[in-house]
Amino acid sequence: MKMTVGVGLLGCGTVGANVADRLHREREVIERRSGVRYEVRAVAIRDLAKARPESLDRRLFTRDARAIVDDPNVDLVIELVGGTTDAAELVERALDRARHVVTANKDLLATQGPRLMALAASRGSALRFEGAVAGAIPVVRTLGEALAGDEILSVAGVINGTCTSILSAMEQGSTFADALARAQQLGYAEADPSNDVSGTDAAHKLALVAQLAFDLGVISPRIARTGIVRVTQRDVARARMLGLRIRLVAATLRTSEGILAEVAPALVREGHDFAATSGAENVLHVRARDAGALVLRGAGAGGPATASAVLGDVVTVLRTLADRRDLPARGRAHALAPAFAVGPFFEGNARMAELPEYPVWEESAGIVRGRALVKA
Ligand SMILES: NC(=O)c1ccc[n+]([C@@H]2O[C@H](COP(=O)([O-])OP(=O)(O)OC[C@H]3O[C@@H](n4cnc5c(N)ncnc54)[C@H](OP(=O)(O)O)[C@@H]3O)[C@@H](O)[C@H]2O)c1
Repeated sequence: MKMTVGVGLLGCGTVGANVADRLHREREVIERRSGVRYEVRAVAIRDLAKARPESLDRRLFTRDARAIVDDPNVDLVIELVGGTTDAAELVERALDRARHVVTANKDLLATQGPRLMALAASRGSALRFEGAVAGAIPVVRTLGEALAGDEILSVAGVINGTCTSILSAMEQGSTFADALARAQQLGYAEADPSNDVSGTDAAHKLALVAQLAFDLGVISPRIARTGIVRVTQRDVARARMLGLRIRLVAATLRTSEGILAEVAPALVREGHDFAATSGAENVLHVRARDAGALVLRGAGAGGPATASAVLGDVVTVLRTLADRRDLPARGRAHALAPAFAVGPFFEGNARMAELPEYPVWEESAGIVRGRALVKA
């Protein structure tokens, strides 16, 4: 008889509700693909009175997230609570009890990832987080698994949909404030958009990208970031007259001394992949020694898209549990090298006399600089 894996879900909001609904409705296909039966034992929420997907049995809901993590019948914890306070305690507690963890929490992993990965490694637990970077786009697998036999040289992209939608609306004549209000109406921007517009959200994602690409314990506070709050309609219009667009670009590059990593609004020529992004769409350019240049593009946020990434991780954990491998679906759960330098990426980029506050995005400039530094 097949084993049954106990699943505990923490959070049933934008992403969690999608995950919970699909774990229920698509059980047959998920079990067939993973080769193991599972049972959702409980779902943690804050407000028991809120409306939830109708497919879910009300008896599963609890306000006691800790009890789920402590339940010996829960083998896999899916953390979709968000933030760095409760989520940190819950994920740490789950890993400490040798539960496998799937999360989409970039804030947590970008600030405490190296510590949590070391903990997961010490317990032989999985810690998977495909949903934490660029929603549905398989960035984590591409960098951490598909390219694990190569050497990643640089990763750069447009990875914050709120900023993209604000900058695109400003190109159509909106002010920053109007564009932000519209992004909130469309659901791209959260009620408190400060993490997005300050560049912090993109810096969090870039920290994870750098952890995966370079196997280094990069944490987000070490990454220089400039947000888009100072971008004016005049700057956007002037850029367009020059055949350019302003996009919040996140870029990282390995050098001989450490890495360069930075998030900043940059001038991107029209026709470039980064300029063509709109709304919640993300795009990433990856350069690897042997694989060459790769482009990843797709839905960078949203409940269903992020749930797709989360469920992919869930299937991976279930599969390895079904196979009873000794190191169950560990994902990136190994200790990362801590000591290295993180420098600003855009310092050496060209500037234009008309818009001197913005670096000009030149993919080749970064690559040439990286090579020079590696040789130095
Ligand atoms: N939304 C996206 O497009 C997206 C994309 C990529 C990654 N993510 C990441 O996915 C995670 C979840 O995001 P989300 O947008 O789904 O958030 P959300 O809509 O705010 O949902 C959070 C859920 O967690 C519950 N919760 C919060 N604190 C709790 C606690 N202490 N105990 C029990 N339950 C608690 C909330 O309960 P109530 O429902 O009762 O309030 C809610 O159900 C975050 O880490 C986020 O960064 C989101």
